[in-house]
Amino acid sequence: MEKIILQSPYDMHLHLRDTPLLEKVAKYTAQYFSGALVMPNLNPPVDSVELALGYKERILKACNGNDFMPLMSLYLTERLDKGVLKRAKEVGIKFIKLYPKGATTGSESGVSRVLDDKILQILEYAQDLGLILSIHGESNGFSMEREAEFHPVFVELATTFPQLKIIFEHLSDARSIALVEKYSNLFATLTLHHISLCLDDVIGGGLNPHYFCKPILKTPKDRDVLLQIALNAHCKFSFGSDSAPHLRENKENAKGAAGIFSAPFALLGLAELFDKHNQLENLQAFVSENAQRIYDLPKSSKIVTLIKKATQIPQEINGIVPIFTGNSLSWSYA
Ligand code: DOR
Ligand code: ZN
Repeated sequence: MEKIILQSPYDMHLHLRDTPLLEKVAKYTAQYFSGALVMPNLNPPVDSVELALGYKERILKACNGNDFMPLMSLYLTERLDKGVLKRAKEVGIKFIKLYPKGATTGSESGVSRVLDDKILQILEYAQDLGLILSIHGESNGFSMEREAEFHPVFVELATTFPQLKIIFEHLSDARSIALVEKYSNLFATLTLHHISLCLDDVIGGGLNPHYFCKPILKTPKDRDVLLQIALNAHCKFSFGSDSAPHLRENKENAKGAAGIFSAPFALLGLAELFDKHNQLENLQAFVSENAQRIYDLPKSSKIVTLIKKATQIPQEINGIVPIFTGNSLSWSYA
């Protein structure tokens, strides 16, 4: 039987939530990935070393003995100062996450003006310490233009802090690719949903809240251009699922939470796409080598084997509707 062997896959953008949801979702990543960059948009936000270390402990507990490395990030809030960054560095926390205030789920504690002096001073210090800055890059303008409107901020940060590694998270708009290619300290993550779905999957038929996410899914052209970047395992891009679980009722009620739960099927969905486009030989680089190189991560001994056998995606997993629900994929976990 046809099979794929992946060594040491990494998910470089993941929402694990906290107890009790954490216990319901952690295993899907812990089983199939060596490590993941864990987002800090909890309530309260993870903006101190104590909160990050406490959260890490709860994650490890929820992983049930799986060999899994949670890479913790600190939320860039008003409270985050140089002292916190220094301690973070000392305990091995390498990432800070910048959310523009109000841009997405759990961004209420984010930054109102990214280019304020106070924020720039923090970022300069982050550069000195060799930390990595992960950014949700969206303005508060028209939904389909938000990412492109944020480009000037990336340019300003990338040129002001040339030694600071900056990650353009969940890149969704084809116009953003040239920007990532232009600045040597700019890198990006790509999600499974932005390379396989488009806005019509949200609003083209009946309204589908389960495909509502931030940044919003874009045009078929954007999807196809992004897909080619992934299929070629472009050296500045790594896989970051942005798997963002919300209970079904919170997606279907009037508030319509943004986020797509993809963790349980992320590697299967990627295998499907890479197989369909005859690029399976690049999957390992996209899910592992690129991340190892960009983020300076170790190659772990974890091996994940996929076999060519159909997987039926369930309607719900622990009260959460997963990506591709009701469809089947042609790959399974061995
Ligand atoms: O769709 C999203 N959901 N985008 C984000 O940036 C945050 C995430 C979440 O936390 O639910
Ligand atoms: Zn996210």
